[in-house]
This record gives sequence, structure tokens and C-alpha cells, in this order.
Amino acid sequence: MGKPLKIALLVSGGGSNAQAIIDACHTGRIPVEVTVLGADRPDAGGLSRAAAAGIPTFVVDYKSVIYDTKKNPEGVVPEDFDLEDLMAKQALFGPDADRDRVKAFLQSRAAAESRLLEALAAYSVDLVVLAGFMRTLSPYFIDRVNTDPTLPKIMNIHPALLPSFPGIDGYGDTFRYGCRVGGCTVHFVDYGEDSGPIIGQAAFPILPEDTLEDVKKKGLAEEWRLYPACIGLFAEGRLQVTWGEGKEGQKPRKIVRIQ
Ligand code: GRF
Repeated sequence: MGKPLKIALLVSGGGSNAQAIIDACHTGRIPVEVTVLGADRPDAGGLSRAAAAGIPTFVVDYKSVIYDTKKNPEGVVPEDFDLEDLMAKQALFGPDADRDRVKAFLQSRAAAESRLLEALAAYSVDLVVLAGFMRTLSPYFIDRVNTDPTLPKIMNIHPALLPSFPGIDGYGDTFRYGCRVGGCTVHFVDYGEDSGPIIGQAAFPILPEDTLEDVKKKGLAEEWRLYPACIGLFAEGRLQVTWGEGKEGQKPRKIVRIQ
């Protein structure tokens, strides 16, 4: 058997997805090793799950980095920060967004992300897995991880059937819209919000008597199956990102083919 794929997990919350992935690795269901888990806050529940599994952890406290950046950007923004390059690439804000606001966002993200990169550097991971990491990543981080343009190396799980309901409350938005089906999506991360090439999706019925809590419960159960399976496909080298078919008047988008 070849070497296992080395992954890093990034979390913000309870870390039930992180746990499902750790379990899938430990039981040998996927040829993957979780080498490190990082969090954007010191009280993230995922940290203790990793520690219990003997996995090293680190914290980049985004809240304090954002605070420090507001007070003294020059003191925290990394030396290789290129505002114009990031402005041109980022797709989180529209063209009419206030320039100063976008600049402040990119400065604080690059400051935090340079710390993430520093913490990850020691582990030379093959894949960064966002497992309930509630921070959008800027091109500063994405470009430094995705060094091969044909093989993205950052995965995310989103609690809705993308491209419907991007953003922070996928299950809530699905439920409030009155959908009869909910779901979750694993995708590669690109410069936009939940907009990268889709790797896998799982769906579940929403019954008339279901509450939002029921929807979240059903969704999470699907996430715990879907995410390890998608990471397994990556580990087996079966994911290929190619250009999809263009439709007249629309730019073609990158899609994932499973081999
Ligand atoms: C999941 O629903 C995931 O889709 C979303 O945040 C939640 C994280 O849950 N991005 P957990 O921390 O893995 O339990």
C-alpha cells in the first residue's frame, strides 16, 4: 500500500465532521492520515477531539488578529501582502463594494492566514480540509496552498445543495425557503463564497413535520458519510478538475470529474 494522504483539518466549532474524518482514517476506511488540526478560536470543540486522538493542534485566534489589524495594519500584515493582486482576484465582494472595506478585510485575512500557513508548514500536508471552519479564505492563503493550478488542495463542506443557499446558514436557509429536499455539498475552495467545483453531494427529504433541528440532524448525518468519502476519492487520485461545457453567453466553469 502507498503512503497515506496527509491532511490538515481546520475547524471553528464542535468538530463532529472532524471526528467523522478522524474515525474514517483510524479504522482504515480511507488511506488518509490527519497530521494536524487547527482552529480559529481557542474554545473550538474540535481541538479536544483532536487531542483525544493524539493529533497535534494549533490555534490562530482570528478575533485577536482582526483586532490587531484594525489598530496597526503595518504591524501584522505579512511582508508579501500584495493588495492589488488580492483585490483583482478576490470574488467575495462585488465590484461596487467599498474599497477601504475590502482592503481592511484582505489585510486582516492575510494577517491571520500567514499564521495558518506558518503553523501548517511543519506538516507538509497534501490537502487542507475545512471541517466547519467558519472563515472565508482569501486568495492570499488559497494561492499559497494551491501551487498546482490543475489540482486544488482545499476542500470544504457546505450545509446545502449548492449552488443554492451559499453563506453561513445553509440548513436554516433551506428550511425557511420551504424546500422539500435538503442536502450538503463537498467542494474545492475557490476565490468566491461556496462557489468552487463540486466533488460530492448528499440529499435528504424534508418532511412537513420536520423542524429546523430535524433538518440539521439529518444533514449532519449525511455530512459524516459524505466528507470522508470525498477525501477518500482525493486520496485515491480519482478527482480531476476540468473545464465544464460552456453555455452560450455564460463563462464555462471548472467542474470535477471522478475517475
Ligand atoms: C456543518 O454543518 C458544516 O457543514 C458547516 O458547519 C457545520 C460544522 O459542524 N460548515 P461540526 O463542527 O463539524 O460539528
